[in-house]
Amino acid sequence: MKLVQSIILALPFLQPTTALVGISWSVSDVPSTGLTELSFPMNVNSAPHETGFYFAQQFNFINQKDVGYTGLQPREDSNSKPVLHAAFSSFISGTKSSDENCIDGADGGAGVSCAVDIEGSYAHTYQLHINNTAGTTWVGTLIDSVSGSETRIGSYELPAGSGGIQGSQMGFVEYYPWNAQESHQCGDLPKTAVTFGYPVAEGYDGKLEKAYEYGDCVGKAGFETHYTADGVETSVGF
Ligand SMILES: *[C@@H]1O[C@H](CO)[C@@H](O)[C@H](O)[C@H]1NC(C)=O
Repeated sequence: MKLVQSIILALPFLQPTTALVGISWSVSDVPSTGLTELSFPMNVNSAPHETGFYFAQQFNFINQKDVGYTGLQPREDSNSKPVLHAAFSSFISGTKSSDENCIDGADGGAGVSCAVDIEGSYAHTYQLHINNTAGTTWVGTLIDSVSGSETRIGSYELPAGSGGIQGSQMGFVEYYPWNAQESHQCGDLPKTAVTFGYPVAEGYDGKLEKAYEYGDCVGKAGFETHYTADGVETSVGF
């Protein structure tokens, strides 16, 4: 995913330019040192078991401009079992990791990317849990809200001086096969759906704004969104 400077200047939050849908999240009354622990619930019950979409939430750390991401990507079934790919990354230059799930670099730029594939039920809601375990070290964990099982996605250490997680950012839905193509037809977008849950931070109130379309397929991507009891469901594609 590439970020274009003019878009960054024009919009209040970083917007991945190849994404189709954005959704702003916030946690109220975050202290100036930031949050040390935050979870993003996500449910992909209605998403086909196919590679292509990335459902992500972005977050900023105090004293850092570049973002981190965490999210889920559907995968094809393996041996007739459903597979989910979970990602946890930092685009911050100077981020370090010796975690076996992580590699240096994020989308061709600075940072660290961590990922894990699990056999898991698409019907379950997952928590993408981000936790400050020591100093500037952060661990991303995928927690199955139904079974309670936890899988470490990865861990990284931010540069000295980095603080906790800031109280607002945005998530997105991206169809990333288009990143590698010179052009695409909005009408060729496969159908998918995701529910972004309200961010969870103990002692704080997590909120989500309505999802909205952006990018070059506005009005042409079959976009639909509504609030549910658990968050904001959004679907795109045909
Ligand atoms: C988060 O990290 C702290 C250490 O900073 C630890 O005590 C706590 O158990 C962790 N939370 C979870 C849910 O893993």
